[in-house]
Amino acid sequence: MSLSDKKVYLTRPIPEAGQNMLQQAFPLFKYNPDDDYVLSRDELLTAVKGMDGIVSLLTDKMDAEVMDAAGPQLKVIANYAVGYDNIDTRAATERGILVTNTPGVLTDATADFAWALLMATARRISESERFSRALKYKAWGPKLLLGGDFVGRTLGIIGAGRIGAAFAKRSVGWNMRILYTDEMVNQELENELGAKKVDLDTLLAQSDYVSIHVPLLPSTHHLINAESLRKMKKTAYLVNTSRGPVVDEAALAQALKEKVIAGAGLDVYEKEPEIHADLLDLENVVIAPHIASATLDTRDKMATMAASNCIAVLSGKKPENLVNAEAWK
Ligand code: DGY
Repeated sequence: MSLSDKKVYLTRPIPEAGQNMLQQAFPLFKYNPDDDYVLSRDELLTAVKGMDGIVSLLTDKMDAEVMDAAGPQLKVIANYAVGYDNIDTRAATERGILVTNTPGVLTDATADFAWALLMATARRISESERFSRALKYKAWGPKLLLGGDFVGRTLGIIGAGRIGAAFAKRSVGWNMRILYTDEMVNQELENELGAKKVDLDTLLAQSDYVSIHVPLLPSTHHLINAESLRKMKKTAYLVNTSRGPVVDEAALAQALKEKVIAGAGLDVYEKEPEIHADLLDLENVVIAPHIASATLDTRDKMATMAASNCIAVLSGKKPENLVNAEAWK
């Protein structure tokens, strides 16, 4: 069977750079054309039927049922994201389906955005804007909208992989003390920034700013909960650009309401796109709609990477960004 006989389905439009590659490689390429519409379960099960490849988004739950609905010819699920917690990789491996992701290309954009959120949260930018737009700014004031300082403060990084490390490196201008948690020692971070690997409790107790950069796994689900929030300084700020369920959102809302911590900057949510109603009413939280990787270049690179992964597998080649290496034979 040549490439031109392969059927590929894209669950929602991705930037043209990648979508055109799919369109050109696969005459039988199909996609859901609606940018904002996530297919219902039934629609997804119907759409993938007979496909050799699926390019999925993080909003698509790709489990055994979807794989079986596609059929035994399904060879690849190319996720348009670095995170792949939406995919049951074990079920894929059992069926000989290769799963790919888009690592590396979104590291800088995501680390930049984590800083943007941290700054916005600690310097109360969103709150200031709401205040100003509501014409509440009557006079310059010595106590108006006071926030946190950065120089010389302690930055706690939960997960010092690619994105966590890039986030840490951006702190150099503020001469911060860096603490991190990770399974592995990040020697480069220790050498370059004097970063110190500590346990989570120490990080929470000593950091002025805590930023989360771990994947969603059973072991990281609700890693930040009511108990861990109480271990943080009352003056500390929390930022999450990883995955929503790493934080117990109800516990966070409660902690923010009771000023257990000073504030939080969130890009991700437990039941996305739903946002816990209590968070919406709070001033000390900055809320963004999962846009940490949303720059023009980054999204183009994610698109070409996902398309290349899909094309490689269906050409019989090992894709560059294979997640379940054990499925490659
Ligand atoms: C990812 O890639 O996992 C992000 O959450 C979206 O870019």
